[in-house]
Amino acid sequence: MCGIIGIVGTKPVAERLIESLKRLEYRGYDSAGVAGVVGGHVQRRRAAGKIKALEAVLADDPLVAKVGIGHTRWATHGGPSTRNAHPHTAGRVTLVHNGIIENYAELREMLKGEGRSFDSETDTEVIAALVDFELSGGKPPLEALKAALDKLSGAYALAVVIEGEDEFIMGARKGSPLVVGYGDGEMFLGSDALAVGPFTNRIAYLEEGDYVAIDRHQARIFDVHGQPVLREVRQVAASAALVEKGNYRHFMEKEIHDQPEGCQRTIAAYVDTLTDRTAIPGGIDFAALERIQIVACGTSYIAGLLGKYMIEQLADLPVDVEIASEFRYRQPALRGGSLVIAMSQSGETADTLAALRYCQAKGMQSAAVVNAAESTMAREVDVVWPIHCGPEIGVASTKAFTAQICVLTSLAVAAARARGRIDEAEEQRLVRVLLGAPRLIAESINLDSAVRAVAAEIAKAQDVLYLGRGPMYPLALEGALKLKEISYIHAEGYAAGELKHGPIALVDEQTPIVILAPFDSYFEKSASNMSEVMARGGQVVFITDPQGERQAPAGARVVMTAPGSDPLITPLVMSAPIQLLAYYVALQKGADVDQPRNLAKSVTVE
Ligand code: F6R
Repeated sequence: MCGIIGIVGTKPVAERLIESLKRLEYRGYDSAGVAGVVGGHVQRRRAAGKIKALEAVLADDPLVAKVGIGHTRWATHGGPSTRNAHPHTAGRVTLVHNGIIENYAELREMLKGEGRSFDSETDTEVIAALVDFELSGGKPPLEALKAALDKLSGAYALAVVIEGEDEFIMGARKGSPLVVGYGDGEMFLGSDALAVGPFTNRIAYLEEGDYVAIDRHQARIFDVHGQPVLREVRQVAASAALVEKGNYRHFMEKEIHDQPEGCQRTIAAYVDTLTDRTAIPGGIDFAALERIQIVACGTSYIAGLLGKYMIEQLADLPVDVEIASEFRYRQPALRGGSLVIAMSQSGETADTLAALRYCQAKGMQSAAVVNAAESTMAREVDVVWPIHCGPEIGVASTKAFTAQICVLTSLAVAAARARGRIDEAEEQRLVRVLLGAPRLIAESINLDSAVRAVAAEIAKAQDVLYLGRGPMYPLALEGALKLKEISYIHAEGYAAGELKHGPIALVDEQTPIVILAPFDSYFEKSASNMSEVMARGGQVVFITDPQGERQAPAGARVVMTAPGSDPLITPLVMSAPIQLLAYYVALQKGADVDQPRNLAKSVTVE
């Protein structure tokens, strides 16, 4: 969850460390710090809070070093204070860490027994102390690092500098990603391609258990057994370097508006526009599949749930969707003939990765729907189904969600055709419908001013309910998740049919109820739910389409009318209003939209 950068440069690195940390802030923003080697001595600068606070520290007390490491933190062990901020130092060793060391308490006791003391509450300081312990036993730096790594259990990506060593940085990876960047007479370590994006696009991804030493000219990489290895150096897409807000106030706002284009690019990769047929890369035989298992977390899980509705209905192919953190530990019964699909914007979410690996170990074919095409999941699956919405920086996922839905919709149509559930003409009709989605998404983003008007009222609420039936049920979950995470208002999404089984007790005049009800086969039932809620004083925000608006019972507090669409793409068209609603409510509340409290964009710890 934390972000790491390391530079062995030919010129001072402090400014570049900060530039990189700003790109990494999506991984955590509780505190930040840098350290550099100056004349053989290691100097640190650290600050609680965001990178801005660290910049202020550096302005007062500059760091002039050509070799340095940096870190932005998402707190696990120990609160978000300066004392707990990375880099951590023990003796000659200073390092930054992303991950969680599970046996840190045990190691800490062992090291205390050796007379060592600790300044912070972190698990990271224990790694520094352990490497220093090995160094003081007389081992050279790389051997000392390896000896320490062998004693750690848990997950780590590390960048390490050593007092007295002006020329190199060491790194290691297990469970958390780390890349080596190859520059021009300079070398880099980083959590991902984005971190080193401003400096180089030539990157090698370290593999599980690898450790490395970089100097100005080379990277010496060793595998988990200590054997020297070569890891392929790839040229990564320039898009990794393109992360600007443009004229928008927040990345989230920009990313909501990016959706028509992101969906268009994604759909184009899964259909053939000459023939209006689906064209799914990877050669999966949908006719032969008995079942699909989707594993994911958060918004990606909700996209997976929508996939289940579409694939089962169109293709008559059973789909199970499960939250990865549950799936990975409950020993699910799996059978042959199944395909596991990991859904993940980042491609690095620890629980999703573990669930994916569990299925692979059971012999299942595997696929990943990811945004980060070079991520761990993308590299470990049989088939990668990338989304093409560009880097998503806002912590609340928006454009990745709709792009994931585009992939799943294409898969549903392709599977339906492969399994003989639809003929070619129907496949072509559905593909044309899908190709029309970006235009309708753009129209539904135009609801912006209607949403803004209702946001002021919702911002006063303590609780908000979201209701939907059929595919609008997952969207109700997504609406509630978005509102919770960026406005800190308690919200719940329910299948509208569940209303009478409990949640209706929550209905009162103070609780806004957002009902998602396009004019589809569920409309009449959703309209009845609306009447039931209003009869109990509930204030309804009714999100529908033009025909739904005409047919809806009178009395809603607000009606928002998205464009009408074929049911195949209604979830795509109805997404923008709920995203905008959360966005404008958060603005009303003055919340930090792009970096909500306690969250991080990429959850690489379980
Ligand atoms: C919510 C959100 C999170 C992520 C979840 C999974 O807006 O962004 O719930 O969806 O952490 O992340 P990925 O998709 O990277 O696996």
